[in-house]
Amino acid sequence: MRIAAVADLHYSPQTYDKIREPMAQVRDAADLLVLAGDLTNYGRPEEMDSLLTMLTRLRLPIVAVLGNHDFETGHQDELMKQMAAEGIKVLDGTAYERDGVGFAGTKGFLGGFGRGMLTAFGEPEVKRFVQVSIDEALKLERAMAQLRTERRVVVLHYSPVVETVKGEPMEIYSYLGNSRLGEVVDRMGANLVVHGHAHHGSADGKTTSGIPVYNVALTILQANGIQTPYRLFDV
Ligand SMILES: [Fe+2]
Ligand SMILES: [Fe+2]
Repeated sequence: MRIAAVADLHYSPQTYDKIREPMAQVRDAADLLVLAGDLTNYGRPEEMDSLLTMLTRLRLPIVAVLGNHDFETGHQDELMKQMAAEGIKVLDGTAYERDGVGFAGTKGFLGGFGRGMLTAFGEPEVKRFVQVSIDEALKLERAMAQLRTERRVVVLHYSPVVETVKGEPMEIYSYLGNSRLGEVVDRMGANLVVHGHAHHGSADGKTTSGIPVYNVALTILQANGIQTPYRLFDV
């Protein structure tokens, strides 16, 4: 299966105009489109409506996770319903199988990497924050446990590894993802991971066990000379 993936469209009619033409060709290039979060800027239902008009015209299967921007105005549940009504598979700690390829996804959360990862110590506020990060990792684990396919793709918004956020200011690494997600991917096994969120990170990375991780934020694709508003992967 050939997969096209992109993240961080931050849809507005003006920004989409720049990618409308090449995006319209995606159907000829791929069997399925993955959208790895931040589909909208503020998570407003009217933004999603407008984006969905574009997406349904592409006429190919779409698998998506939401990003932090899609939560901004508190309409995330409504956005997920809007997407589902158009046949988009929204992964939120859930899995989806198509043509022998399994997709497991969740938004993920922040928290930091390696020795810089925040742990549940001290104030209750810190513990609550860390718990959200743990809960998202558990959601990913549950989603991956549902897959029965040999070929598996993980879809996240936040990064599971530090490598693909490099290029961003080091001070904000811990806001861009967390290592717990990477640990789950390693434990459960996958062919590849795609994510976004780190708009100025790096395109390619690997988990500790060597599973390829790709940052498919639109800005990263553009910065790496990829001519299409999506990156292609064979799974
Ligand atoms: Fe973004
Ligand atoms: Fe984001």
